[in-house]
Amino acid sequence: MFQDLKALPEDAILGLMARFRADNSPDKVDLGVGVFRDEAGQTPVLACVQRAEGQVLSAQVTKTYVAPAGRAEFNTLVADLVLGSSHPALAQGRVRAVQAPGGCGALRLGAELIRASGQKAVVHVSDPTWGNHMPLLGGAGLTLARYPYYDAAAGRLRFADMLESLRRCNPGDVVLLHACCHNPSGADLSEPQWNDVLAVLEERSLIPFIDLAYQGFGNGLEADAHGLRLLAARLPEVLAAVSFSKNFGLYRERVGALLLMGERAERSDSMLSNVLQIARSIYSMPPDHGAAVVAAILADAGQRRAWEVELDAMRGRIQSMRRLLSATLRQKSGSGRFDFIESQRGMFSLLGLSQPQVVQLREQHHIYMVPDSRVNIAGITPRNVGHLADSVLAVLQEATASP
Ligand code: LMR
Repeated sequence: MFQDLKALPEDAILGLMARFRADNSPDKVDLGVGVFRDEAGQTPVLACVQRAEGQVLSAQVTKTYVAPAGRAEFNTLVADLVLGSSHPALAQGRVRAVQAPGGCGALRLGAELIRASGQKAVVHVSDPTWGNHMPLLGGAGLTLARYPYYDAAAGRLRFADMLESLRRCNPGDVVLLHACCHNPSGADLSEPQWNDVLAVLEERSLIPFIDLAYQGFGNGLEADAHGLRLLAARLPEVLAAVSFSKNFGLYRERVGALLLMGERAERSDSMLSNVLQIARSIYSMPPDHGAAVVAAILADAGQRRAWEVELDAMRGRIQSMRRLLSATLRQKSGSGRFDFIESQRGMFSLLGLSQPQVVQLREQHHIYMVPDSRVNIAGITPRNVGHLADSVLAVLQEATASP
């Protein structure tokens, strides 16, 4: 049966983790997979998470099943966190949340729901986008297309091209948007640009599917949800995939949620019942531990404040590394070519290097980044920034020098 299956290449992002571990150089720098790192290069468990884990484990008296929708209290708290507790869609009773195995699980559930709708919707994703978006959505059998979003060589958004492309979408098509901290570019929409996107979605009857994987990593918990909240207040149908891998540091626990907003409460209920059947047919129910931890933190005022302090510190470190990398490259090269890094947000930026240059950085300088030259800014420290900047400039210099 399996004789015709060909061995597949490793995942562009996850494959880097193994390569990096196998490199024995003391100079190696990991700018690959998107995990937060502190100044020592570690990804520690948040203190609020450690406390909540103790509490969750000591209160736990059973391991019996929860439900295909996961924990009810988690789902309520997540809807409040993402939308803000006074959001009109909540007041209208048209929001349903379903706990999911990570942001990936939520994206796949949303994709399966779009397919189950029976509409021939095309899903439009940004060019570029996160390496797993196309496999996750395409794997559900959806037709995908790309809209222009970011020019990596110039280090800027292609906003006019994006709007023009969205204006050509067919009514009922779905547009995948990054709520904040665009992965891989770090280039986000401004508030006026969200207004323009909203106007096109309204005018063309397009449905946003919003990926919120980094709430709190860009400009703060509220600011990072601005676009999502705006669209959810104004449009009849919205899907949002939420991840707690990064902002709670719960990567391996696989905790996320899918938010469903239909035109009216009954429509949201139908959407929910379909999602629950889909979940049952794929994995039955989501893992519980991470969601129990998130719920315990969000439900307790003191723990919630403590989490926000830790989240602010993670965001602050990323922003200071953005400033440091821009300044170091500016000082060493005498050019403002990389100034865009400072103004971008979240964990990633694209350096605008070619694939051979990325390979050269890995093989000659022990610097690991995704083939599209996406760097995880959280992998930078005051100790490695000099080596990183020198190596990037050396590789660029060589390209200019060679005929
Ligand atoms: C990333 O973009 O590096 C992270 O979201 C991890 C992943 O699953 O790709």
